[in-house]
Amino acid sequence: MRKAWLLLLLLLSLSCAQYSGVIMKSCSGWRLNRLPLVKKFIREDSEFYNLEIIYEGGDPRLIFIDETGKEAETVNVSDLDQKGIKKVLEDHGFYPTH
Ligand SMILES: *[C@@H]1O[C@H](CO)[C@@H](O)[C@H](O)[C@H]1NC(C)=O
Repeated sequence: MRKAWLLLLLLLSLSCAQYSGVIMKSCSGWRLNRLPLVKKFIREDSEFYNLEIIYEGGDPRLIFIDETGKEAETVNVSDLDQKGIKKVLEDHGFYPTH
């Protein structure tokens, strides 16, 4: 019985775990130009989320960092528009800072 409670508490705390950071990794240049909606987010919105953007190639993606500094979750945002990318950030607990 006691064990079951401990397990429940553990599950609850895991499901409420907050990410401690988020970064975006993306392609740049002509490839990014072909994703105008993502580019618009980067240009107009990313600063409000203090989002660091690393242009290292690959599909534009948000990478959520857990409290140990590990890249815990990646979300491919190449198909999303500004609103969609903001929703992904906010669903993961990141809101505009100003
Ligand atoms: C990201 O999404 C795009 C569009 O749906 C897709 O073409 C691409 O393969 C995806 N990238 C990864 C790494 O899953």
